[in-house]
Amino acid sequence: MSIKVYVSRDATAQALGSRRVADAITAEANRLGESIKLVRTSSRGMFWLEPLIEIDGPDGRIGFGPVKPGEVASLFEAGFLSGGQHAKSLGLVEQLPSLKKQERLTFARAGITDPVDLDDYLAQDGYRGLENALKMSAEDIVKTVTDSGLRGRGGAAFPTGIKWKTVAAAEAEQKYVACNADEGDSGTFSDRMVMEGDPYVLIEGMTIAGIATGATRGYIYLRCEYPHAHRALNAAIATAYQRGYLGEKIRGSKYRFDLEVRLGAGAYICGEETSMLDSLEGKRGQVRYKPPLPALKGLFGKPTVINNVVTLASVPIILDKGATFYKDYGIGRSRGTLPIQLAGNIKYGGLVEKAFGVTLRELLYDYGGGTRSGRPIRAVQVGGPLGAYIPESQFDLPLDYEAFIEKRGMVGHGGIVVFDDTVDMAAQARYAMEFCGIESCGKCTPCRIGSVRGVEVIDRLLAGDQPGKQEALLRDLCQTMLDGSLCALGGMAPFPEMSALNHFHEDFRPRTAETATR
Ligand SMILES: Cc1cc2nc3c(=O)[nH]c(=O)nc-3n(C[C@H](O)[C@H](O)[C@H](O)COP(=O)(O)O)c2cc1C
Ligand code: SF4
Repeated sequence: MSIKVYVSRDATAQALGSRRVADAITAEANRLGESIKLVRTSSRGMFWLEPLIEIDGPDGRIGFGPVKPGEVASLFEAGFLSGGQHAKSLGLVEQLPSLKKQERLTFARAGITDPVDLDDYLAQDGYRGLENALKMSAEDIVKTVTDSGLRGRGGAAFPTGIKWKTVAAAEAEQKYVACNADEGDSGTFSDRMVMEGDPYVLIEGMTIAGIATGATRGYIYLRCEYPHAHRALNAAIATAYQRGYLGEKIRGSKYRFDLEVRLGAGAYICGEETSMLDSLEGKRGQVRYKPPLPALKGLFGKPTVINNVVTLASVPIILDKGATFYKDYGIGRSRGTLPIQLAGNIKYGGLVEKAFGVTLRELLYDYGGGTRSGRPIRAVQVGGPLGAYIPESQFDLPLDYEAFIEKRGMVGHGGIVVFDDTVDMAAQARYAMEFCGIESCGKCTPCRIGSVRGVEVIDRLLAGDQPGKQEALLRDLCQTMLDGSLCALGGMAPFPEMSALNHFHEDFRPRTAETATR
């Protein structure tokens, strides 16, 4: 019997050389006449160990990593297929401290299955949520999602069940489910990992959303920078159609659900839900006024469920194990788990799925291992480019939507970007404002004009041109953007500015014009 050898095909793993390692394994096995079956899996999310090779052992999968293509021959020499030790031996992967402590619900199959193999998905509890949903009334599905406490993982943290209830109650011949897979936040990759690594869980979540709300057609709005995810989704969708999990009479039921992927050209604002709808309709992505809510008048003017990838991918386990199971994780009004993405200057970067309540300090040190540079962490930006810069004094903050809002920050999509003590926070603040100017859709004045003026004010401040006056002006401008912007791009751009000014004021001292405009 062939021995199974698992190597990730995740984009990050590939960027780190996993394909070359896989090729080297095949070549060496052929040369030695070893019978192996190479399985290209998703990634565990422990990127510092990629390329990671796993083989089946008596007590679970045994890991070797990070492996270079040139080390593959020595693994065979050491007899790694039959329990031989090697300098890159890691032991049982599930027992690695950083994985063992995690609570993987949404990412339960990460690194384990072949992403596009439907039988592998079914063997690992896949489609159990849908099977349950098909036996329930639409109202009960919505109630289960509501009772689970699931809130949108795309950034706004709106209760998913309430959104679904609004769409379900709307009268219309056609309703839609639109999955927001634009994933534009800095340092984030959990949507990408779901779509590349476990596409059926998203398809299952969207199908359940359709059944619960009466929507018969779904779109995944995917950023074009994710070609691996695009391929995986299309392959999985085609198989789901062939096997009766999409299309007419899903699994022999009365329900129909059609699904396709639409590519976005890659504009940050197209992740904002109403811009996304415009873009999906083939228009330039621009923010729409609300009301009407997209739940009542969304895609092509019809009631539309808009949810983030991780939100929808969290639904199957809720329908499989029940609302209480999911709700038992977390704290306060932040229920369940969050796939946190550690990025920037961090030693052990990657994906950590934990129940809400875990502190930043635990994430940064226990999981992240501190900075990659070995220098002290000075600041982290949580929640993407519009998130606040958080100083060391607040690292005991638990991951909780309300706790972050209280500190004028946001959990957002769970991305954490780490900076060491060499960071220039004034330069970061300038960058955040410049980003807002570049990505502004231009519909409202505070954001379109304010962001450009904001950069100019910061430049004058740093150039020493009446710095006190410029700082007052900057604070005033931030307040105007906060109060007067139509959407959260302009409305939250002040968060990084104000947090940098408040917590890292010493960095705003005047410097030469040359460094000021870096
Ligand atoms: C500027 C801006 C960018 C956004 N980008 C994304 C994104 O890339 N992905 C996403 O899911 N939500 C994004 N959102 C949030 C969406 O508007 C919306 O709240 C979300 O898709 C709803 O899904 P959820 O309830 O499942 O989170 C963005 C919001 C703003 C204001
Ligand atoms: S805040 Fe910016 S991105 Fe949002 S609507 Fe106004 S101009 Fe457009």
